[in-house]
Amino acid sequence: MASLIPPPLSLYIHLPWCVRKCPYCDFNSHAGKGALPFDAYIDALIADLDQDLPLVWGRVVNSVFFGGGTPSLFPPDAIARILDAASARLRFAPSAEVTLETNPGTAEHGRFDGYLKAGVNRLSFGIQSFNDAALEKLGRIHDSAQAETAVKLAQDAGFDNINLDLMYALPGQDLAAAEHDLERAFALQPAHISHYQLTLEPNTIFFARPPKGIPDEDAAWDIQEHCQALLAQAGYAQYEVSAYARPGRQCAHNLNYWRFGDYLGIGAGAHGKISSGAQQQILRRWKVKHPQTFMDTAGTPASIGGDDIITPERLPFEYMLNLLRLHEGFSERDFSARTGLDAAVLAPALATASTRGWLSGNDGHWQPTELGRRFTNDVIELFLA
Ligand SMILES: C[S@@+](CC[C@H](N)C(=O)[O-])C[C@H]1O[C@@H](n2cnc3c(N)ncnc32)[C@H](O)[C@@H]1O
Ligand code: SF4
Repeated sequence: MASLIPPPLSLYIHLPWCVRKCPYCDFNSHAGKGALPFDAYIDALIADLDQDLPLVWGRVVNSVFFGGGTPSLFPPDAIARILDAASARLRFAPSAEVTLETNPGTAEHGRFDGYLKAGVNRLSFGIQSFNDAALEKLGRIHDSAQAETAVKLAQDAGFDNINLDLMYALPGQDLAAAEHDLERAFALQPAHISHYQLTLEPNTIFFARPPKGIPDEDAAWDIQEHCQALLAQAGYAQYEVSAYARPGRQCAHNLNYWRFGDYLGIGAGAHGKISSGAQQQILRRWKVKHPQTFMDTAGTPASIGGDDIITPERLPFEYMLNLLRLHEGFSERDFSARTGLDAAVLAPALATASTRGWLSGNDGHWQPTELGRRFTNDVIELFLA
């Protein structure tokens, strides 16, 4: 009989405000009007964490991620207050990675020293592009010079673990423009680059009124292949669909998600996934989405948007949805430890994937092939019950 063994634990903290809403973005982010209620929101985060603590008694937190929204709208003393409250309630691993998402348009002088002192040791900058015309079309609040200055300020303050988010397949973008974006990114020598294809998400302005000149699927594929080669040449190894890192600089927090690890999610609209060895089940919990509703209800059952136990029928799909994004693949032993299911349930789908040349297996370890990586969604669908 396979047995579910709780995997490593991470903590996600959602900070939901932005200077303004970008027209392509469907994250739970809201244009902040007037003075933001930092103190009230932090009180709510702490109440939320207190409510979730019994789910993770005694477990060690290996990474923390402040996501948004624009976490860098919160001043360093606010981030320090959150981290102090969290570390007073949870056991942090001494080497825990602590990331803060940063919009270059919010980088005030002196902020980065404060974040470092507060305990943040990794920054993720939403750069998107270094082309000023593209940034304007994307409704960004910064230009390329501000983006470069922000990254340099952070490096001068002592941050050496920096990610840059770039998007490609932008309106009017050709291969040369995408290449230029990467060259400007390489010049800043970040440890990590996330390279996302711009997607038109329902409930966004871009979905309702798509901008002119978005590259079609074939053109987007050409940009992606070309950029993958450039990233590899520059020393950034791809380890996930959109993630590239220098040796040893993969994002521990995101890796834990993709390896089907556990995470507490606190804050407006945050999602968590927690395994229980005693109950041999996995709980998904999410919080109410709207920041004001969250602040009004935090710490009470009314702040919980939903609790859902993942059924055994759905577990293989949910596991593969994460693991098959990773180049490293998975082992059957790990599948059993993280789902509590016997790996024999995978056999029919694995046989099909291997016949089609999508996965290659060796001694119980499976990895997506180059062909499989091109058809990630089709491969994952094989594991739907
Ligand atoms: C929460 S935001 C990062 C921090 C900050 N809010 C910012 O934008 O500067 C996460 C990242 O997701 C990416 N992203 C957001 N919407 C996207 C979309 N529709 N298509 C592709 N990537 C998207 C962007 O690269 C963005 O930096
Ligand atoms: S992309 Fe970032 S800055 Fe823009 S609305 Fe979304 S979360 Fe806010």
